[in-house]
Amino acid sequence: MSTFYITTPIYYVNDAPHIGHAYTTINADAFARWHRLMGDDTMFLTGTDEHGLKIQRTAEENGVTPLEQADSTSVRFREAWEQLNISNDDFIRTTEERHHLAVQTLMQKAYDNGYIYSDTFEGLYCVGCEAYYTEDELDDGNCKVHERPAEHMSEDNYFFKLSAFADQLLEHYEQHSDQVRPDGYRNEVLGLLRQEVRDISISRTSINWGVPVPWDDKHVFYVWYDALINYATAVGYGADEDRFGTYWPAAHHMIGKDIIRFHCVFWPAMLLAAGITDLPKFYVHGWLLIGGEKMSKSKLNGVTPKQLIEGDDEQAFVPFGVDGVRYHFLRDPSFGPDGDFSYEQMIVRYNSDLANQFGNLVQRVITVTGKKCGDLAPSCDGDSPLKAEAEKAFTATTEAWARAQPPIALDATWRLIRETNEYLAAKEPWKMEPGADVDRVMGDSLEAIRIVSILASPAIPVAAQLAWERIGMTGNVDDQRLPDAATWGQYAGGVALTTGDPLFPRLKG
Ligand code: ME8
Ligand code: MG
Repeated sequence: MSTFYITTPIYYVNDAPHIGHAYTTINADAFARWHRLMGDDTMFLTGTDEHGLKIQRTAEENGVTPLEQADSTSVRFREAWEQLNISNDDFIRTTEERHHLAVQTLMQKAYDNGYIYSDTFEGLYCVGCEAYYTEDELDDGNCKVHERPAEHMSEDNYFFKLSAFADQLLEHYEQHSDQVRPDGYRNEVLGLLRQEVRDISISRTSINWGVPVPWDDKHVFYVWYDALINYATAVGYGADEDRFGTYWPAAHHMIGKDIIRFHCVFWPAMLLAAGITDLPKFYVHGWLLIGGEKMSKSKLNGVTPKQLIEGDDEQAFVPFGVDGVRYHFLRDPSFGPDGDFSYEQMIVRYNSDLANQFGNLVQRVITVTGKKCGDLAPSCDGDSPLKAEAEKAFTATTEAWARAQPPIALDATWRLIRETNEYLAAKEPWKMEPGADVDRVMGDSLEAIRIVSILASPAIPVAAQLAWERIGMTGNVDDQRLPDAATWGQYAGGVALTTGDPLFPRLKG
């Protein structure tokens, strides 16, 4: 059995989740669900990043302790993911004991291996990014992301010998073309490694909200060097070597392009310094923009997932439902480049793909079968014209998930829906007399719905399960295993179908 380990970034707890975070998390969830269908031993992690100066300051502004700030906001992320039907196997918080232990174990190894030294550091720091910048990386002294002045900082720090790993990492990314997807981001990583790679400061004495440095308790680790290690903590690093050995070699980190340097350069170097030679793979996506600007908590232009799921009178948002929101964020923005969030496009996509194509197909097939085929559904035919379409859809869907392109995977699955609708339009079973011909058309359409329900379930898990049940299938669509479950010819009929409310009622724009 293969294993598949996928993570989202762990989000800062300075403010509530918005659709930028939801975009990453929904995509990671769809990959996890797809891999479970493929029979992989799958582990899916998300969580919250709770240390650092930004959280400490937010807590001060809110008149609470940093831990109180973290507790209350971490719950909001958990709730947002529950509402979005996110199937994470674990939710990590960096304030947990297990994480402190893993950080200290990994960093102590890097220290013992001679990759950490102490020195004085002076530089310009953006608290929003929790990152040091050089003058030329700033815009007139202002951080380009947060549009606020970077602060001058000077302190005794521990440094990590990042420079010692530059050549090895460059070679690694040159030799393995699939480590960073899409390819444009791999080039960005290669570019970072071809520049001068400087050692990095990894500890601080000016704050205490962090993981203590095990060999010098006046210091805490700088938030990023604790945060990245969460991915190792959650699969048992330093605590359960078997579990770590199982999942770590299959690690895939889904991230936004804003945190490429930390993930694709710093993190692999830290792993190597601690003697871990299996390096993770990355799925990198661009920014969701609102009016051409990156949406963010700091700019307060965030739209929340809840507003889109439930609707919002003030913003004049209609309710898209959980599957409607998930489908949009998987299908519309192409995976990689930046894209403008468009409410109008969301309506168009929902009405076309979900209401008209999928919802109507299920409704129509069940209604016509009830009218023309008696109380029990007919079985499908072994050599339907739809068989080849189902095979094509399965192959193309599988290839696109493997290339980390959810929009293309869903388009491939939806092709089978469109082909089935066209098949019905051509055959016009509603005009046929009851008998073998109409049984055959309806049995084949039911088989197409059975297969589509499985292939679409990573995107629209609730509607997929409903369709599955309405056509008389038992059990959970999530428990089906590919490729076997997608093989044509399994719809056995002989069951009663269920009619119900439309799966996706049309929305008014
Ligand atoms: O960076 N468009 O946390 P964070 C697309 N704690 N994705 C977006 C987005 C947008 N407008 N805004 C946020 C941190 N994201 C660190 C991570 S990991 C060891 C530590 C998503 O709360 C995207 O995935 O700032 C981005 O990389 C992440 O949220 C940043 O979340
Ligand atoms: Mg951020």
